[in-house]
Amino acid sequence: MSTYTAVHLAKRPKSRIVAGETFVTKTHPVPKESDLKDGEVLVQTIYLGLDPAMRGWLNDARSYVPPVQIGEVMRGSGIGVVKASKSPSFPIGTNVSTMAGWTELAIVKEKHLEKVEIPQNGKLTDALGVLGITGLTAYFGLIDIGQPKPGDFVVVSGAAGATGSVVGQIAKLKGCTVLGLAGTDAKCSWLVDDLGFDFALNYKAPNFAQMFRAATKGLIDIYFDNVGGEILDMALARAKPHARFVMCGGISQYNEPVQKGPKNYLVIVSMRIKMQGFIVFDYQDQYPQALRELAQWISEGKIKRKETIVKGGLKEAEQALIDLYKGMNTGKLMVEVTPESKAKL
Ligand SMILES: NC(=O)c1ccc[n+]([C@@H]2O[C@H](COP(=O)([O-])OP(=O)(O)OC[C@H]3O[C@@H](n4cnc5c(N)ncnc54)[C@H](OP(=O)(O)O)[C@@H]3O)[C@@H](O)[C@H]2O)c1
Repeated sequence: MSTYTAVHLAKRPKSRIVAGETFVTKTHPVPKESDLKDGEVLVQTIYLGLDPAMRGWLNDARSYVPPVQIGEVMRGSGIGVVKASKSPSFPIGTNVSTMAGWTELAIVKEKHLEKVEIPQNGKLTDALGVLGITGLTAYFGLIDIGQPKPGDFVVVSGAAGATGSVVGQIAKLKGCTVLGLAGTDAKCSWLVDDLGFDFALNYKAPNFAQMFRAATKGLIDIYFDNVGGEILDMALARAKPHARFVMCGGISQYNEPVQKGPKNYLVIVSMRIKMQGFIVFDYQDQYPQALRELAQWISEGKIKRKETIVKGGLKEAEQALIDLYKGMNTGKLMVEVTPESKAKL
């Protein structure tokens, strides 16, 4: 192989990502071993994780990370294998997770690499899911901001996604009663039958508003919000006094040229709601302890997961990201950039 491909930002979208216009695929010469400096490795991407936040990174706006610049390789986290190394800590063949971006190959400094440790009953892809950013987001958002107590009634939106599916399971481990909201009946069945959620509702069902009111008649202690929009308004209307609203994300608004806030916001005052946003990176120094606990739960079968892996290489990433906002995934969405068997050769 003398060349590799990477996907670069070509044009900032105004609302939805436009296939064939937002991104451009470029071919680059494969770096030589002599291009590596001390402490650097050449990583081949095996799996690329796709995150709703990626749409926000395309906007030229102030946020928790700088926007991806036009011409830059699209930002993204992935799992890869070290193919060449000038780092004694990361010899050839080591599996790593890193933010190399939408690329088949990248030279990465060792300080930006994490070794992938696979726990008992674990698998490589867990490093992008339960043992990656989304699992950590679920963990810190629910435990630190939600402060779950046994008997609390927890509602999770985006419940069949990578983050929401872990939130609901941790809430169950903490003794809570959990209602999950997701976009298909099949996702709702998975939440209740396989993950042990107490209830799940399809928010696209015609009578959803009525079913939501019935399911929340005991009122909500913790609302873990992944979606914003109308569902956030409905949850506000059903909040218990002193409810905690964990503001993790608002996917319903990410592609909107003008984002809408909640109409019911005065309930925050009347019900003395604690509504707090967070960014998982703020908990970086606590990751090791959280990962130990999450790995333990995986080993004991207390946290289950599904993942949606799009095959076909990096060329599938753009459409897969577009489809993420349409709910094509159950659990973590990722693209298989290089089949594991090929990457190891
Ligand atoms: N604060 C942080 O540090 C942090 C870190 C990571 C992720 N997040 C946020 O966490 C949320 C979940 O991220 P994830 O990576 O776990 O993604 P995900 O939940 O695995 O995937 C996104 C899901 O959102 C649902 N969705 C799409 N459009 C929707 C809409 N209009 N209304 C309701 N649901 C919709 C879809 O499922 P349905 O079939 O159910 O519609 C889709 O599968 C996102 O808001 C993300 O930005 C925050």
